[in-house]
Parts: sequence; C-alpha cells; structure tokens
Amino acid sequence: MDSKITRLLCKPILSLCPRFFLVLVLLFFLFICLWNFMDLNSTFCHPVEKSLPTILLQSEPQNKNGPFSKTEQNNLELTILVWTWPFGERFPLDTCEKVYGISGCHLTDDHRLYKHADAVIIHHQDVMYVKGKLPQAPRPPNQWWVWFNLESPSYTPNMDMLDNLFNLTMTYRYDSDIVRPYGWLEVLKEPQDFIIPKKSKLVAWAISNWNPNTQRVKYYEELKKHIPIDIFGKKHQPLHWDNLISTISMYKFYLSFENSVHVDYITEKLWNNALLSGAVPIVSGPPRENYERFLPRDSFIHISDFPSAKEMAAYLLELDANNEKYQHYFQWRSRLRVRREVGWDNHYCKACRVLRHAPAYKIIPSVAKWFSSQDYPVQ
Ligand SMILES: *[C@@H]1O[C@H](CO)[C@@H](O)[C@H](O)[C@H]1NC(C)=O
Repeated sequence: MDSKITRLLCKPILSLCPRFFLVLVLLFFLFICLWNFMDLNSTFCHPVEKSLPTILLQSEPQNKNGPFSKTEQNNLELTILVWTWPFGERFPLDTCEKVYGISGCHLTDDHRLYKHADAVIIHHQDVMYVKGKLPQAPRPPNQWWVWFNLESPSYTPNMDMLDNLFNLTMTYRYDSDIVRPYGWLEVLKEPQDFIIPKKSKLVAWAISNWNPNTQRVKYYEELKKHIPIDIFGKKHQPLHWDNLISTISMYKFYLSFENSVHVDYITEKLWNNALLSGAVPIVSGPPRENYERFLPRDSFIHISDFPSAKEMAAYLLELDANNEKYQHYFQWRSRLRVRREVGWDNHYCKACRVLRHAPAYKIIPSVAKWFSSQDYPVQ
C-alpha cells in the first residue's frame, strides 16, 4: 500500500495504529475460535478434535477405492470360489444379496467352477502346511487369487510358500487390498447420549490361551499385586460367549491384551470385549499411535502410558474414586458408534464387492514380507 495513504489513514491516531491493528488480529482469531467451536470437523481451537482418530468412517470400511454406487454394484457379475471352509466352518453361500444387499456376487465352494471363477479366496489357516492344498490346475487368465487371513503374523506360519502366487490380500491390516477389520468407529449423524452401564466391579480379563511365559500374563501378575482383577477363561472362572458382554459391562476396566504385537492387529478383545461392553479398555498391542488411528486418544488406556504396572494400578484406583474423571473416557461416545461385523459369509460378500474395484493386474511377490512388515501403513 502507498505509504502516503497509510500515513493519511493513521495520522489522526498515529500512536494507536499498531495497537489497533493488533487488536484487530486478535479479534479475528477469537472469531475463528468461536466459529470452530461449533464445528467438530475443524482442527483449530478445539481440544476434542485433537483426540479424534484419523480413520473415521461414515459406514463400514470401503477400502481406498471409496464408496460404491448402486450401478457399479449391479453391472458386474462375479463368481467367487470359496476355496476352503474357513477352519472347517460352513456358512450359507446365498446371503450376499439377501442379507447384505450386495447383488451380482455368486459365492461357490464347487472346485469344478475354478476355471470360471473371477476370484479364488484362499484362507491361509486351512492350507498353510500343505502347498498341494492350493489350486493346482493352470490359472485362468485374469483370475485373482486372494490371500485371506485374520490372524497376526506370529500365528501365520509358512508364508514363504506363497511367494509369487497371490494377487490380492484380505486381512485386518489397513493396507490390505480388501480390509476386514475386527471393528471400527462410525460417525453418528446426530450426537447421542451414551449411558454408561452400571458398574459394580473394577477390572476384568477373559483369556483363553493362558501361557505364564507371555508378556501379557506377566503384566497381569504384576498389576494384580496392586489392584483386584477378575479373570475368566478356560483355566479360570468359566465365561460363556453369550454372557461375555453382560458380564464385562459390570466392570469399569477391561484388559484388551493382544496375543502378539503387530501393526493394526487390534482384535475383538478391544472392539467386542471392551468397547461393546462399555468398559474402558486397557490395551496392550501395537504402539499407542497405532491405536489412535482408529480410536480417540481418550477412549482407552495404553500400558505404555505408565512406566510400571504399579503406576497403572494407582491411576486406575484414582479413576475409580473420581467418577467425573472416569466418565471422561466415554465422552467420544456421543459422536461415535462402535461397529463390528462377524460371519464368514459377510467377509466373503464384502470381499466380492471390493473386488469390483480391485486392480486388474497385480502380483504380490512376497506375502510374508508385506504381512510381517512393521512399517506404518500409509493410506
Ligand atoms: C496373479 O498372479 C499370478 C502369479 O503371480 C500372475 O501370473 C497373474 O497374471 C496375476 N493375475 C492378475 C489378474 O493379476
């Protein structure tokens, strides 16, 4: 601006001019703050926002290719060969349209249709020890082989046998071609009140594979020296799956300890046992930042938050005595809802839908290398 004009404008209030400008700037920022306070989607001046996870969904995970339109769903018929019944568990093959509203997806377990199948979905745990259990006939052109696995790398032996065979991956990892997570959070269209279940007990843990030499059991042994913990499972107080949610909901805290530590490996121990039960999860698994991709930071307690089990116990007792502080762990629930999908048929139908957008040509040189990498997956 011309300095003459500036002087002309400022002359009458020459000494006030810089200060006046400063006040103007401050007012501007105050206005922005107030504006943002109304709007959760902003990252500015809103403490709650900072606690929101990066992966938030309006509906179920759709993978990188975005939402599917009705026409896309209808115009391509796909035949999906369910190569094995996962863990030998049979499921209905005719539910894609009826139950999940996904049309044009034909699931079959008939190996004679191999030649005509657009994709063969192979569940690792059923074939992993015998290479001969993989399809042996020459592969039809353009057919995808999909590697399906929901276990962690620690419990996925023999991945080397899969080198240069598969085209797509289907796992809980968010950098899979077909993502099948154990659970996720959905943004509610309208804020809703969440009623915290009545609490009469403190800490619960349900564990089926009890192994005293594991990190998680050692941590539990340490923790229970300082705070009472009720433990359920095969070698402990029995707890039937049907009663799991109602039992755990009476507890303020639940130990969501994963059996192994891997990127994105956050299982039903968190989504079902703790979050659906309305207990505050105490998590042990991948680092806190990995959890924060999927969950608000103030929705869980990570064992790395405290230098020792003793200090963790002290904090839990503090929360137990201070209801207001405890309730803070439920604030996010007015805006977000826990979603979880189960059922093998569901997994296969959703896979079929994602396949409509899968790359026409892709080879995975090493499933082992990809699945074992602890690199933080980039979206
Ligand atoms: C799938 O992978 C195989 C083996 O690497 C390859 O021969 C085939 O062309 C690939 N098919 C597609 C559709 O990408």
